[in-house]
Amino acid sequence: MPSSGVSEDSYSVLSCFLEHGSQVVHRSMGILPLKKVTIINHFRLLKLKEMFNSKFGSTPKFYVRAPGRVNIIGEHIDYCGYSVLPMAVEQDMLIAVGPVKTQTLQLANTDPLYPDFSTTANNICIDKTQPLWHNYFLCGFKGIQEHFGLTQLPGMNCLVDGNIPPSSGLSSSSALVCCAGLVTLTVLGMRLSKVELAEICAKSERYIGTEGGGMDQSISFLAEEGTAKLIEFSPLRATDVKLPSGAVFVIANSCVEMNKAATSHFNVRVMECRLAAKVLAKHKGLQWDKVLRLEEVQSELGISLEEMLLVTEDALHAEPYSREEICKCLGISLEELRTQILSPNTQGELTFKLYQRAKHVYSEAARVLQFKQVCEAAPDNAVQLLGELMNQSHRSCRDMYECSCPELDQLVDICRKFGAKGSRLTGAGWGGCTVSLVPADTLSSFLASVHEAYYQGNMSRLAREKHSLFATKPGGGALVFLEA
Ligand code: GLA
Repeated sequence: MPSSGVSEDSYSVLSCFLEHGSQVVHRSMGILPLKKVTIINHFRLLKLKEMFNSKFGSTPKFYVRAPGRVNIIGEHIDYCGYSVLPMAVEQDMLIAVGPVKTQTLQLANTDPLYPDFSTTANNICIDKTQPLWHNYFLCGFKGIQEHFGLTQLPGMNCLVDGNIPPSSGLSSSSALVCCAGLVTLTVLGMRLSKVELAEICAKSERYIGTEGGGMDQSISFLAEEGTAKLIEFSPLRATDVKLPSGAVFVIANSCVEMNKAATSHFNVRVMECRLAAKVLAKHKGLQWDKVLRLEEVQSELGISLEEMLLVTEDALHAEPYSREEICKCLGISLEELRTQILSPNTQGELTFKLYQRAKHVYSEAARVLQFKQVCEAAPDNAVQLLGELMNQSHRSCRDMYECSCPELDQLVDICRKFGAKGSRLTGAGWGGCTVSLVPADTLSSFLASVHEAYYQGNMSRLAREKHSLFATKPGGGALVFLEA
């Protein structure tokens, strides 16, 4: 294991882990000063260590944690090339790791819902037909293996403990992919920057079959406590966004589960955006066959997002496009559309909405930039303005992108009714969570009212409510640590 070369940007050094009141502090081999990091509950760690011991008959050598995230604004635009504005949440994936001398990778989970899994580390197969939990680990593992072109990988025992509600839009799966990537890197004693790790994990999560952008993996690695981040792509970078004081972000789970790898909804949207980009590019006389993302059309034309909205209105129609019409527009055969443009699980789609999807993407991209500008300028009515942008975002997700569901719409309405200045679905949608901007001085009455209106009286929601309705603040990114 590496022991020197401290860099704030990479994970070459394991941090010491010290209990300090209810907080955890870490120290990077005495070179970096003591620094507070995201809270890791001491009892959780002890329990994990004990379970590891009884499962594998040894003590973990190190631990890795990677957080989930809440996206404040900028939904379904990362895979179109546009910036997004998430923050890490406190909830995370935590893995206890013990390298072994054999080449067997053994995975276990503290949650009995997720069965043990074991495989040889040299022949990783990821089954796209079922999004089983261990496949997310394998994505991160394989991503690192492929990045370094390794044929032989050491085996290890891993015990995973996650407290991010699954299928809730808080990115539990990407947190597991990122955690596994960092576990593998650490076992190998190799070095990568956080940006490189984020890019590798974004790419390798696609082994599961979803065509996600890079938001979730980027924030899991690049997050810093106390600040949200504007994440830009190509090249990937993260800039601090100071959120307004006097207001808090509240997460509320609709309790409708949505696993984006289990249906084709997500990939259909990615493909609709891809097709919209191609049709717009063709309309404008650009070399459309190379274009994959809506952002590329804008940058090729060198015009503003507002102008792109006008181009969209001019070039696309609101009625859904049939496959035949798209083929005619682009001058390609049905076979070329299916095999060269569409992803495997969208090849059976008969119609695509291009106008609505492009309108959402260009307007949402503009809202992200406005949100950041308001945070920077911090006018007196900042909370009001930010809330309005969040409300517009939800309307666009609901009406133009069609990625909401009745429960999410109901929850957003309830949150606004009881004092949220803005409320919207967060993450992929079709279920999962909302995020609301709530004045800090009304937080407790807000939580009580939302509890009563959405959770009380519904047994299944009530049973999960403890982990479903909570205020959150920007947490820190992924971390490797030893026990002190
Ligand atoms: C999922 C994907 C992200 C992003 C969001 C929607 O979380 O993994 O890349 O596309 O959906 O904004």
